[in-house]
Amino acid sequence: MDLSTRYLGFELKHPIVASPSPLTRTADGIRSLMDAGAAAIVMASVFEEQIIGRDAIMDERLETLRQASNHSDVPVIASLNGATPGAWVNFAGDLEAAGARAIELDLYRVPSDPGETGRSLEQSYVDILRAVKAQVKVPVSAKLSPYFSAPANMAKQLAEAGADGLVLFNRFYEGDFDLDTMLMKPNFSLSTPDDIRLPLMWISLLSGRVNASLAATSGVWTYAEVAKYLLVGADAVMTTSSLLKDGPQHIGALVSGLRDWMESRGYESVSAFQGRFAAAHLEYPSAFMRAHYGDILTSDPKEH
Ligand SMILES: Cc1cc2nc3c(=O)[nH]c(=O)nc-3n(C[C@H](O)[C@H](O)[C@H](O)COP(=O)(O)O)c2cc1C
Repeated sequence: MDLSTRYLGFELKHPIVASPSPLTRTADGIRSLMDAGAAAIVMASVFEEQIIGRDAIMDERLETLRQASNHSDVPVIASLNGATPGAWVNFAGDLEAAGARAIELDLYRVPSDPGETGRSLEQSYVDILRAVKAQVKVPVSAKLSPYFSAPANMAKQLAEAGADGLVLFNRFYEGDFDLDTMLMKPNFSLSTPDDIRLPLMWISLLSGRVNASLAATSGVWTYAEVAKYLLVGADAVMTTSSLLKDGPQHIGALVSGLRDWMESRGYESVSAFQGRFAAAHLEYPSAFMRAHYGDILTSDPKEH
């Protein structure tokens, strides 16, 4: 059975990739994910602010990258988290020199100024991407939030600006506060399988319609989420929460679950079913999505 897939030009042995997390921050963590069979690993992000502040984390991350990428046939992808265009993007070149096989650019800025338009936020993301692309020869992917008026157009702009891949979607931890202490409190929770729905819809809508690899991130806990993401057209499927809870060995369970499911359906390769549920097969995707929404709102909740 052929579980291989292509992502960012790499031939991955299977679609399951470890996404950025505390596990991908250290050489030991990365090695444990490689030993557990991850097809590729995305390191924890270095933030624009850390680069501007010349934080010690930059040297640590470069050293970790050198150790992790040495003698590894599993692609190690470095991650940069940025919000505004600037000279900090030069660090992408250092990451490439230290052995990064690709750069994942995690784009996140809250446009808090009511005077700022969506257009200007989108342009700043495109500018950051172009600037990073100018620094490196390795592939560059963009990890996005779903918070755009027109996510498909944002994806198209990034692909046209040279993004080799798109990673949909990052999860965010908006603030909350404690009514006893009247202080902000960190609001951290792992994902659940229900979190696949938004990226599932957008990967389905983008598959075959943008010139970039597509990776799914959010809500992958079992082979079922992996299979669904592949069915809508993902080229790679990433997971963090499941690995934080169940440990790197969980990658083995995801791979064997996918293999068993494929066998039960008679699929000999991932490519035999990848993209089967892509919206490109629909004549009127927007009408389809609206009809689905209408059906849910007008149905009897007791029936679900
Ligand atoms: C503790 C923690 C740290 C994370 N650090 C990063 C990071 O440095 N860069 C990044 O792009 N995403 C980061 N993420 C997001 C994950 O890579 C992933 O995209 C997100 O958790 C959704 O996937 P999941 O449902 O499998 O957890 C982090 C997530 C968690 C839970």
